[in-house]
Amino acid sequence: MLTYWKRRNIPYLEPSIPFGNFENSITNTKSHGLYFKEFYDKFKKMGAKCGGIYAYVVPVFVPIDLEIIKLLLVKDFQHFHTRGFYTNERDQPVSVNLFTVDGERWRLLRTKFTPVFTSAKMKIMYELMVAASKTMEDHLREHARKKVPLDVKDCVGRMTANIIGSCAFGIECNSYNDSKFHKILKAIVLGGTAYIRILFCNALPDLARFLKIPLLPAKETNQLCDILDETLNYRKESNVLRNDFLQLVIEMKDKEIVNLTELKAQCILFFLAGFETSATTMTFVLFELACNQNIQHKLRKEINEVLVQHDNKMTYEAIANMKYLDMVILETLRKHPPVPFLNRVSVNDFQIPDSDMIVEKGTKIMFPVLGLHHDPEYFPEPNSFIPERFSDENKSKIPLL
Ligand code: HEM
Repeated sequence: MLTYWKRRNIPYLEPSIPFGNFENSITNTKSHGLYFKEFYDKFKKMGAKCGGIYAYVVPVFVPIDLEIIKLLLVKDFQHFHTRGFYTNERDQPVSVNLFTVDGERWRLLRTKFTPVFTSAKMKIMYELMVAASKTMEDHLREHARKKVPLDVKDCVGRMTANIIGSCAFGIECNSYNDSKFHKILKAIVLGGTAYIRILFCNALPDLARFLKIPLLPAKETNQLCDILDETLNYRKESNVLRNDFLQLVIEMKDKEIVNLTELKAQCILFFLAGFETSATTMTFVLFELACNQNIQHKLRKEINEVLVQHDNKMTYEAIANMKYLDMVILETLRKHPPVPFLNRVSVNDFQIPDSDMIVEKGTKIMFPVLGLHHDPEYFPEPNSFIPERFSDENKSKIPLL
């Protein structure tokens, strides 16, 4: 048992039954990102360009070498366009989105939605984002006045909920006053059974579909759909036009580019893709600025200087001119990537160049993002927070980019 990699002469890490190369993931709190970093470090130490591990009994291919990674993610993308996420279209049609569909359906959906995710469209939405983040100022002032500690992740999470509510669902919600919307988002992302359900559904997708298990918790997902129905009706009846993501998707629906289910699915995706990722990034930016006061001072100086040039207004153009801020965010994403590994499934047999190794059709592949970001060969002193890695003159030296 568990001899898949040995039989194919691909370097592997010795597994154990039943968790493979993972420990008991129900009682163990180590994140999967950290596991894949450890796999990366071990294969690198062995001098391997790639290797195999087992997630429970499922063989997973882990590429280490940059050329192989670029090949699989970019050049030979046609063999690796599938993420292989669990989805259950029959019982939850709105869980079919850019993340969960594969192949030709993904390409078609991507072609439809690419025009919505341009910087020009972002610029149009920017004013709404600023308005939605205003209540955070009051929240911060209140904490400062009372001199009480602030839960930063919670604080930026609420601001993110305000922005998603405004841009993707067309509602104004003050999440700092415990809005219903924020509670729904939190329940979907952090709900008690979320982790185990997703683990189970991805490990045994056919059984999960047979048991009618939806990807997202049904009650809260239905509540989000109800909010969208209400907003759509209101806009139709009152002839309201708004510069938001929802409006762009409504226009696509009016032109019959998408149907109502696809419209709802992409608004929900806006939240799924943007909520935790953005809040985690902002949390770590603030954490690193607190730990590195010199960087904090340098960034504050840049922000103040740029604002003076922009009439003291935090406009889209002003933010675009904050180069050091960009470097700080990039270094945060390097050190603390909110998505610490990427996944794909090979859709054809694929031979690794200059080797006799074959990645068979249907093999799960995990790209160890956290491992790459902490590899001292690419990022010397990987545990140090050094935004200068991403200055114009330095970033061209990073082989990953
Ligand atoms: C710091 C914040 C974010 C991070 C770190 C992040 C990271 C990622 C990653 C790693 C992927 C998968 C790439 C792959 O599999 O090759 C992805 C895909 C995606 N993200 Fe984000 N994301 C962020 C914010 C957002 C936001 C705010 C939105 C939407 C409003 C968004 C929408 C998407 C979509 C639609 C996809 C799927 C694209 C496709 O398959 O065509 N992301 N993101």
